Order: sequence, then structure tokens, then C-alpha cells
Amino acid sequence: MQLPLAKLRLHVDSYNRLADDSNWNRFKSLHWEELRPDLLTQGQKDAVEFVTYVEDHLPGYFAEYQSLFPIEAEDITQSLHNRELFHFTVRWGLEEDRHAQALALYQYHAGIEPDRDRLEEKLIIENRKPFSIGFSNPVQVFTYTLLQEKATQLYYQSLSRVVEEPVLNRLLIFLTKDESRHFGFFCNMVEAFIEAYGEKVLPLIEEVTLHYKMPLHNTMQDYRRRAILMAREAPGYDRILPQKVLMRQLRRTGERLAELARPIEESIARMMAILRIPTIEDVA
Ligand SMILES: [Fe+2]
Ligand SMILES: [Fe+2]
Repeated sequence: MQLPLAKLRLHVDSYNRLADDSNWNRFKSLHWEELRPDLLTQGQKDAVEFVTYVEDHLPGYFAEYQSLFPIEAEDITQSLHNRELFHFTVRWGLEEDRHAQALALYQYHAGIEPDRDRLEEKLIIENRKPFSIGFSNPVQVFTYTLLQEKATQLYYQSLSRVVEEPVLNRLLIFLTKDESRHFGFFCNMVEAFIEAYGEKVLPLIEEVTLHYKMPLHNTMQDYRRRAILMAREAPGYDRILPQKVLMRQLRRTGERLAELARPIEESIARMMAILRIPTIEDVA
């Protein structure tokens, strides 16, 4: 099950039309001389360290996309599809890699880890561990990434509201903007699948939503405790919010595609029951 080429191209084009103008420089846009490490709390330093690990698993993530969407595919239609998608993937990969390196540079300049070599060594330990999205059906791969993009966007946004250190604040705003664009792309992709294939994609989306876990949850030592601590640093961040946002998005799709309104509402009701979500009305 893959998107018709014209549809895919439309969304990839519109992503890159924006992305090509949305640049910031990981070395120059952050003014290290304005850094005020004394304004950072220990919890905020730990949060920065944690999200650096999350962003830094990009090579594994990117490799997974390459193996799921190879150019040397079985038939030429698939190759065309995968080549088109690559225009997105490579740009997105660059942006995610910039996140990882900017956060690492921040750690270095702020003295969270003042030894650059030791910093890279710590990062590579997590990076070397195997990573898998856990799904191979394209609509599921995109749903998974959608949730992750939303989670990171919301986290950076919530954290930026309380961080007083000016350089970290600026970095968090760059990150939030990028993640929000990434989320928008994956939203368009999931919606395009519903448009193209109708209600049969709904159980696939449900499966991902119900079993969603952040990358590293099964490989990083002490993940659970660290995840709880990092969430505390960002008031208003709610780990179930990405799923709620997705459901809200599905509802909007149902409102637009009248013939799918009922199956979509049924799907949302099932997910809300299993995830024990009382309402999604409060979600923007
Ligand atoms: Fe990112
Ligand atoms: Fe992202």
C-alpha cells in the first residue's frame, strides 16, 4: 500500500518549498558568548542530555527509511515513489541531524559535558544500539513518525516556556519550529492515505497509536526513570498528547470526508477507550 505518485509529490514539494527557506546555522545562529549556564537547573541540564540522545539516533532512523523505501525496489513504480520520498527524507534527515548536533554543541558550550570527545563517546554508545520503527507498512511508518514529531515539538515548546537561559531558549524555538513542520508533513501523508484507501487504513493507524513508544525506550539504560524526570521539566507536557492530537486530526479528516465520518469516529472511540482518554475536545 503506497500513495499515488502525484499525491506524494504534492506533499513533498510543499514541504521542501517551505523547508528550503527555513534554515538556521547550528554554528552561528546560537550566540555562545551570550550563554548563561548559571541560569540552568540540574533538571534542565539532564533534559538537554536526554533529548540529545533522542535526536542523535537519527542515523538508525534514516537507515530504516532507506531500507523500507529503497530506490532499487521490485518495480519501477515503487522506485519512482521511493525516489520522490527521498527528496523529503534527505531534507528531513539533515534537519534532524542538525538538531542532534546543535544540542551536542549546546552541551559542550554550556559545560554540561565540557569534553567534546567524551560527549561523542557517550552519544555513540546509544547510537550503536539497534533501532527499529517496528512497522513496515508505509502508513504505519508515517503514523509512528507523526507521533514522534508531535512529541518532540510539544516537549521543546513546553520546555522553552520555563527555560531562562537565553541560548537554550533560542535553540528550543528553532527545534520547535522544525518539529512542527515535520509533524505537518506526516499529517498530510496519513490523511492522504485515508483519502486514497478509505477506512481500511484505520486499523493500521490504530495499531500504531495504541502501541506507540518513543525511540530508545527499549535500549537506553534507566529509560523509564529518565523519561519521567525529563517530563517534569516541561510543565504542560503530556505524553499522551501526541495520540490525542492525532485523533483530533482524524476527526477533522472525517468532517471533511463525509463518507468516512462514521468509521473514523468509531476508530477514535476505540482508541480513546483503550488508552483511557476521556476527551479530545480540549486538544487544539
Ligand atoms: Fe528533531
Ligand atoms: Fe522532527
